[in-house]
Amino acid sequence: MQLASRMHSIGTETAFEAAARARALEATGRSVIHLEIGEPDFDTPASVREAAKRAIDGGRTHYPPFPGIPELREAIAADSAVRRGFAPDPADVFVTVGGKGVMTYAILALVDPGDEVIVPDPGYPIYESVTRFAGGTPVPIAIRQEHDFRLDPDELASLITPRTKLIVINSPANPTGGVLTAEDLRRIAAIAIEHDLVVLSDEIYSRILYGGAEHVSIAALPGMRERTIVLDGFSKTWSMTGWRLGYGIVPEWLRHGFGRLLINTVSGATTFAQWGAVEAISGPQDEVEAMVEAFRARRDLVVDGLNAIPGIRCLRPAGAFYVFPEVSGTGLTGEELADRLLQEAGVSVLAGTAFGEVGTDHIRLSYATSTANLEEALVRIRSVVEPLALDGAAA
Ligand SMILES: Cc1ncc(COP(=O)(O)O)c(C=O)c1O
Repeated sequence: MQLASRMHSIGTETAFEAAARARALEATGRSVIHLEIGEPDFDTPASVREAAKRAIDGGRTHYPPFPGIPELREAIAADSAVRRGFAPDPADVFVTVGGKGVMTYAILALVDPGDEVIVPDPGYPIYESVTRFAGGTPVPIAIRQEHDFRLDPDELASLITPRTKLIVINSPANPTGGVLTAEDLRRIAAIAIEHDLVVLSDEIYSRILYGGAEHVSIAALPGMRERTIVLDGFSKTWSMTGWRLGYGIVPEWLRHGFGRLLINTVSGATTFAQWGAVEAISGPQDEVEAMVEAFRARRDLVVDGLNAIPGIRCLRPAGAFYVFPEVSGTGLTGEELADRLLQEAGVSVLAGTAFGEVGTDHIRLSYATSTANLEEALVRIRSVVEPLALDGAAA
């Protein structure tokens, strides 16, 4: 039997495979600290769980309207008015299975064979994978540590060709934690408008920001609402990864196509989960605030701990729950180090190349785990890296 030829062009998300490898090692009796997967360790807030339970008991177990239940679409629109500064028509809001649904539909709806999509490198690997699957060409834009892990708008402008269709931005970013400034966003918007391009703005970490920073959505800038697809969701902010709920806010001209893709794939996101999400987005936010504060403290612990290890250099990100340290001072690539950390010390991290070539000298750690785990991980990382750096110094 033969797979369809398009299956040769589909990629993957290495985090899931790395987690499986780490669990296999664990099954042999080894202790493994998991810093590979981007998943908060907190429980979903109790009020959200209760709302979903009430929905099940109340019989909300049938098909939802395919774009999402009206109560949730209205709540998302109201939240956008407060947090993003624009109030979409709820008819432009689509509830999807995970934030991933939004990126898949956006790319499938827009990209023809031969079209180019500008994707961050390092960046979330699914943008590139689905672009290839759709027959498009991903064009990586380097996101450099020297530039605070923000894309350089001049470089972006230099990558535009007549085939460019879509620019993907992600702020705060996976895997770097980098946050675009309002000025960066204004310059990206000017480029999109000048060349008549669409922007997919992945804002899934937009509430996980430190130091009082306010999230700015490119969709709120003049001339951008009609050319921006906003991606957000419930997985990260309310620790709801297993609920598989995300949402897109799309321009009016994309409504029909987006709806068709939803109908053709999932018929709509799980009904009772959507009732939980209504509570998540419109109920009290104190648990989210406490979670973000815990992430901030863990970020500082990890950044300070990594920078104290010779051979590792780590920026202090302003958002999300990842760090992307440079490890070239160890004499190893990110991939080699990730391998040794797992095999020799039972610390599971991802190689930077899981997110693109620019990540060769980096590893990615998720600090969405307990302080005790992070402290132990730092001790173990030091035990592997310190001898390497000493060897390097002796050589
Ligand atoms: C940047 C980014 N976008 C989207 C997603 C997908 O989120 P979800 O689990 O809601 O599909 C992730 C998950 O890791 C992510 O890091």
